[in-house]
Amino acid sequence: MTRLIVFLSVITGFILTLALFSYKSLPVSNDKFDLHKTEVTYEKRTELIHELTAPKEVEVVAEVEVKEYAPVVDLNTPQLVSGHKLFNQCISCHGKGGEGKTSQKAPHIGGQYDWYVEKQLTEMKAGIRVNLVMNSILKGLSPADMKDLAAYVSQLPWKKPGTETAKADGAAAAVK
Ligand code: HEC
Repeated sequence: MTRLIVFLSVITGFILTLALFSYKSLPVSNDKFDLHKTEVTYEKRTELIHELTAPKEVEVVAEVEVKEYAPVVDLNTPQLVSGHKLFNQCISCHGKGGEGKTSQKAPHIGGQYDWYVEKQLTEMKAGIRVNLVMNSILKGLSPADMKDLAAYVSQLPWKKPGTETAKADGAAAAVK
């Protein structure tokens, strides 16, 4: 019995010693605690954070100033001159010739009766006719402006998109 105990103790001691040595010979790696690496990572992160949080350079958006366009209408009265100027705000949707734009769902208004244009503008501004897209522009228009615009719009040659010849009927009727 004593022999058996001694034998087992020797075996256990042997195994323990082996284990201790193999543990000691494990490769030592300081990867996780590499100070230099940590520093570099920290710097990179800091840089990234700075990049992301830095105030963006204010992009200079080109002034939305519609260039003066050649008048389609003979500007032979002060009213037409004023109307032509005011119409600058309308061409993005209704087109230079008042031909309208499908993409904007803006109708053809060139050559329309002046009284009709004036009535629509007045009623849209008053909210009797609801037109949300023109609201911001209408706010800046006085009754006199609307008259000028109506006069100008009525003189625009009535032209169907794609056709070269202007039908003068609308304009002629409005001139009277
Ligand atoms: C943002 C685009 C946009 C701008 C800018 C704009 N319009 Fe319009 N306009 C529309 C749309 C869309 C309609 C159709 C509204 C509707 O369905 O009732 C319309 C309708 C009209 C009508 C009624 C047409 C009809 O047959 O009943 C007149 C008149 C008119 N616009 C004149 C003008 C004038 C004048 C200006 C400039 C001061 C102007 N619009 C600027 C989009 C625009």
